[in-house]
Amino acid sequence: MENISDATRGFVDLRRHMWIAGIETELRRLIWQIAVTGKYISAKIHESNRKLAGFRNIYDEEQLALDRSADEILQSQFQFSGFVREYSSEEQSEIIQVGKGNEQYSVTADPLDGSSLVDTNLAVGTIIGIHKEPLSEGDKKTLVAAMYITYGPLITMVYSAGKGTHEFVLNREGEYVLSEERIMLNERGSIYSLGGLRKDWLPEHLKFIEFLEREGYKLRYSGGFVPDINQILIKRGGVFTYPALKNKSMGKLRLIFELQPMAFLITQAGGMATNGKEDILLIKPESLDQRSPIYIGSRFEVEKAKEFLSKTL
Ligand code: AHG
Ligand code: MN
Ligand code: MN
Repeated sequence: MENISDATRGFVDLRRHMWIAGIETELRRLIWQIAVTGKYISAKIHESNRKLAGFRNIYDEEQLALDRSADEILQSQFQFSGFVREYSSEEQSEIIQVGKGNEQYSVTADPLDGSSLVDTNLAVGTIIGIHKEPLSEGDKKTLVAAMYITYGPLITMVYSAGKGTHEFVLNREGEYVLSEERIMLNERGSIYSLGGLRKDWLPEHLKFIEFLEREGYKLRYSGGFVPDINQILIKRGGVFTYPALKNKSMGKLRLIFELQPMAFLITQAGGMATNGKEDILLIKPESLDQRSPIYIGSRFEVEKAKEFLSKTL
């Protein structure tokens, strides 16, 4: 599929882009439906109900009312949609059967990533993974598409269905129009994001970070995984790390709901994602709440991270 010319780019909306890309009908409908749902979640955020919901999620973290309403909005879209079989999110303790059982796709969601940032008016996002097989049988590489929606100064949506990673902007008319097509990361970038506390880092991770600092990388860390990854994608390079910690050997971020969808998108953009040793997309999730250390971004930095981490000091 050749790139769409600059002249027409701003007038190519999401549905036309997916049709030109030859994406299968039901998957096109599903991606479109999720993108539209982003508008409803954005409206919820603007209602600025930023109170705690009084519940805790499977990670035993306090849930904001917004976490739960974003989750409810997403789940209700898929309920009997006719092409989604299972829905699973980091806000629910088990996989939900939202279809009759013969639908093609299953969806994972981090309905509102970075929700603790909403009260500071920093950008937050929704992370989606689309699987070809039921999640309960997800023992093979079943992720066929991924997307995220960023609620910032603009609402943007980034998706890949295996034919490159593309960005759309929600325009004044409420349409998602193409802004960046087939985004490709450079071999290396100049920014880095650092999760976890320095005092809790393992020595080999600290050595990697000190390397980046000697190389003059600029620190970019908002505390929101979606905008932090989006920055690396749109700036065409850099690395995001949330490492294994002395007191948390699997780090903080969630393998199924956050890391594998982002790894799909970044890999499609010519980047890499690892837990320090293996490819994030090749890790077989053992449980819904599984976490993993993450090094994700342009090739040079991720390869470097693997090099430093292989020298356990
Ligand atoms: P969520 O709001 O879905 O729980 O995700 C928050 C995550 C992620 O967005 C971010 O990268 C990370 O938490 C930040 O963690 P720290 O506050 O420990 O830096
Ligand atoms: Mn999250
Ligand atoms: Mn979340």
